[in-house]
Amino acid sequence: MLTSDQIQQLAEGCQEVIDEILAVDQNRRGNRGAHRYSFGGSSLTRSQLHRPAWQMLLDIPEVTTLLTALFGSPNYTLRAASGDFCLPGAVEYQRLHADVRDWVDNKSSPFSAFHDPRGLTSIRDLPCPYICVNFLPQDVTRLNGPTRQIPGTQNSREKIPSLEEEPEWMRLSTVCPAPAGSIMIRDTRAWHGGTPNLSEHVRSIPNLEFYAPWFREPIVPGITYQDWKKLSEHAQQLVRFCVADSSEELVTGTTLRAP
Ligand SMILES: [Fe+2]
Repeated sequence: MLTSDQIQQLAEGCQEVIDEILAVDQNRRGNRGAHRYSFGGSSLTRSQLHRPAWQMLLDIPEVTTLLTALFGSPNYTLRAASGDFCLPGAVEYQRLHADVRDWVDNKSSPFSAFHDPRGLTSIRDLPCPYICVNFLPQDVTRLNGPTRQIPGTQNSREKIPSLEEEPEWMRLSTVCPAPAGSIMIRDTRAWHGGTPNLSEHVRSIPNLEFYAPWFREPIVPGITYQDWKKLSEHAQQLVRFCVADSSEELVTGTTLRAP
């Protein structure tokens, strides 16, 4: 999906963020378990949308075609530009989880939304509300911490198994091999998690996260109005709910927020 120039720009963009994060985490404690980090969760804006490497990903025509088909409309919107990376030494599995949930009170999460007051339907009964597209700046192999993805679980109401409960076939259900420049598209309700990085290199999977045209949760601004104006018309349309007001300053920087 990406040209070699785009792969290089993305790899360099990731490396910049990784260097900044590791400078403030000498002990590699991570923010998604040891040696594991969320690109968004490490940013004061919860997003890397202020960085050109992530902005570039908004204008990949094949991705636009796929998302328009999956959502059945071109009016889907960006939620955030994020993703994650894991270092060599990430020897634990990340527990299986979903990236979206039914509404919970503000204290538990300020970002949930879907609520059926009758208690009949859950977000798992809806059409897909939220898609994540990961872009690979390097190969993903059996050894460097491929994502494990459990097919068909997007509508499941079963309890997501803990690491102790998880059967071996799920641990081995990894999305690999995939060469640099590939994308991974997933329904964020489906169960997934990181696996150990036994290689000698960082494995990054920067992403763009999109809401269906009919779905919205609270969104935090990730780009200044001035930078938003510099995007393509298509990208401006995608990012329309992530723009800070022209009178607002966007404070960017690195933080090691608790998971
Ligand atoms: Fe996740």
